Amino acid sequence: MSSFYNGNIKLSIFGQSHSPAIGVVIDGIPAGEKFDEAALKEFVARRSASNNSLGTQRKEPDEIEILAGVANGNFCGAPFAAIIRNTNVKPGDYSEFSHKPRPGHADYTASVKYNGANDFSGGGHISGRLTAPLCIAGGIFKQLLEARGIYIGAHHERIGNITDTRFDPVNITKDTLDNLHRGELTTTDTDSQDKMRALIEAVRADKDSIGGVIECAALGVMPGLGEPMLDGLENRISRLIFAIPGVKGLEFGAGFDAALLRGSENNDPFTYKNGRVVTLTNNHGGILGGISSGMPIIFRTAFKPTPSIFKQQDTVDLLTKENTTLTIKGRHDPCIAVRALPCVEAAAAIALYDALLDNAKNNI
Ligand SMILES: Cc1cc2nc3c(=O)[nH]c(=O)nc-3n(C[C@H](O)[C@H](O)[C@H](O)COP(=O)(O)O)c2cc1C
Repeated sequence: MSSFYNGNIKLSIFGQSHSPAIGVVIDGIPAGEKFDEAALKEFVARRSASNNSLGTQRKEPDEIEILAGVANGNFCGAPFAAIIRNTNVKPGDYSEFSHKPRPGHADYTASVKYNGANDFSGGGHISGRLTAPLCIAGGIFKQLLEARGIYIGAHHERIGNITDTRFDPVNITKDTLDNLHRGELTTTDTDSQDKMRALIEAVRADKDSIGGVIECAALGVMPGLGEPMLDGLENRISRLIFAIPGVKGLEFGAGFDAALLRGSENNDPFTYKNGRVVTLTNNHGGILGGISSGMPIIFRTAFKPTPSIFKQQDTVDLLTKENTTLTIKGRHDPCIAVRALPCVEAAAAIALYDALLDNAKNNI
């Protein structure tokens, strides 16, 4: 099992949902960069179920312990390491899944791959819990990007059939991100939150779950970041977005809707504005040929409904080799997208900072 990102930045995420701790080791944070520990803790706390009544009943303080890589308030060049201790585990809730795999979860595929030796408790390493260390890494790179005038922010664009107004892909500013309505959900509109909340509570009462879409923007990204073909910005962002469990779709700019358009509708005309080349529309989502155009980078991530639902479901018994049914007990999020929002921002921050280091390496 490998959860290792091997770019200019190297990062390794370790731990299991019910092991003593989960954590991350990061190589490649430039020495001397300022570290704001309070801001990091605040960012990672946005993902925590403790602060969200729409999340799982598994509430944990998610206290970050920094073990290495920081001295006198700065990153010191040594590998950075941090852990979060798992304090609220109930392994008994999961023992059945080693032979009766949950539909929609990774119990079956992991059991085949690791011959049943994988840790099934809480999903083991294949768990939404492992996005906490991803958020530690992303929270750090978000800070480093902000120091360079690059801002990342996201909102819940859709929960089930309830939609929020999308970002204006041309005129979005840092103020737009600062003025998002932030609560247990984050939206551009005031009234969509209440409707989304009501829907999530209704599916939870119905022992079910619901999917959602998170729209993310990165502002202030200079033109010329990213490489064509295999190391394009879309490739790099995608790789990190798909590290988040539950992601099933990703679109940049106009995305799938671009397939419905003519070139004359989809092309974004260039123009000069205050001496800078900009585009009048932004169907390209800020990326052309894998390289940033200088326009806002906009992408949307689709999350499936949480697989662990409390309705009875059909499954198989891998021991008896018979068809059977499963009724899941325990504690689960009714909607993954709710708490995944900072995870999306984190993934974008890691990808963009990694791409910045390309240009530094090549003296661009
Ligand atoms: C923040 C977050 C919380 C999650 N919470 C749950 C949960 O409570 N129950 C569950 O079955 N899946 C949950 N998931 C999703 C599963 O981890 C995921 O569906 C599973 O690992 C299989 O991976 P896949 O959906 O990417 O194929 C969560 C994911 C995230 C990002």
